[in-house]
Amino acid sequence: MEIKDKNVLITGGAGFIGSHLADRIIKEKAKNIIIYDNFSTGNKEFIQNKQFKIIEGDILDFNKLNSCMKNIDIVSHHAAELEVFTGIENILHDLKTNIIGTLNVLNASLKNNIKKLVYASSGGVYGQAQFIPETENHPLLPHWPYGVSKLAGEKYCSQYFLLNNLPTISLRYGIVYGPREWYGRVLTIFIKRLLEGKSPVIFGDGKQRRDFVYISDVVEANIMAIKSEKANGMVFNVGGGTSYSIIDLAHILIKQFGNYILNPIFDNPAPGKASSYQPDRRRLPGELQDFILDNSLIHETLGYQPKTSFVEGLKKEIEWITKNPEFWNYKPRV
Ligand SMILES: NC(=O)c1ccc[n+]([C@@H]2O[C@H](COP(=O)([O-])OP(=O)(O)OC[C@H]3O[C@@H](n4cnc5c(N)ncnc54)[C@H](O)[C@@H]3O)[C@@H](O)[C@H]2O)c1
Repeated sequence: MEIKDKNVLITGGAGFIGSHLADRIIKEKAKNIIIYDNFSTGNKEFIQNKQFKIIEGDILDFNKLNSCMKNIDIVSHHAAELEVFTGIENILHDLKTNIIGTLNVLNASLKNNIKKLVYASSGGVYGQAQFIPETENHPLLPHWPYGVSKLAGEKYCSQYFLLNNLPTISLRYGIVYGPREWYGRVLTIFIKRLLEGKSPVIFGDGKQRRDFVYISDVVEANIMAIKSEKANGMVFNVGGGTSYSIIDLAHILIKQFGNYILNPIFDNPAPGKASSYQPDRRRLPGELQDFILDNSLIHETLGYQPKTSFVEGLKKEIEWITKNPEFWNYKPRV
């Protein structure tokens, strides 16, 4: 459906991805853009544009969410609990936010005759890759509670389309990076170390490959999903189109910083334990070997094509954090 003159509500719209999407939706000339966010990790500085109507609310508060959806045409559901360790250590909290919260979004959407709901899912639904690149038909064996709850949300979206004809589309993102990215994952940890003149610390042998997708490409996939009339009920991968090992990432960043005397350090903490070089950084249990998404289905169905090269995207993220170092001055989220 066209976005022009429509009313759009973005859950988690004050977060990294949701705030970029909100900025992009302004350009589509939406009538009203409501940011619905509990600000647990979201940031008011990302949503300064006067065209946004900001509502501080929780997706677990069904009545509030439902009342905010009156006259809304399009819902983008980005609010979630993303921290993998939180999901492991507090499964109930992860379940409530990602499953009950998503059911609330679906039920409120149904009650208010929403014409399109796009759900932010994750490539984390696949678990350890049994083949690469991972297509949408890859077995769904998530390694962490986070992947389980994101998968449940996705399955409910498909159910609401099948049972109630609510037009939903789910997008399984790779590792999204770019300006406003939150601090805690390997890419941000390496950048911060390099900004401090320190070597990146690689866990394991560093040969594990990752699918990094630049924020504006993810935003364009969302715009295509909102506008599509033919993909309701479907689930798509949204990857960066290429993959890099963690060693590649360390060397690309060292090159970007021009600090050729640095070399990556290798560390091998036990799963769940902290790095001896970075005591506030823990190694994830059940770490994935390769994580690479196949974009064929979304390319053929919606015309998605990632446009930003990794080097170009990293440059933009480094420029942003160099100007705004305060955004990463907190404990890493993982
Ligand atoms: N960043 C990635 O690489 C990535 C990858 C795959 C999937 N995703 C999905 O994309 C979405 C957005 O991720 P992000 O990276 O922008 O994270 P983020 O933490 O920056 O944004 C999440 C937003 O949701 C809000 N929120 C959290 N719980 C809420 C609740 N109960 N009620 C209302 N608002 C709540 C937070 O305050 C925040 O603004 C999530 O659904 C996530 O699972 C992200």
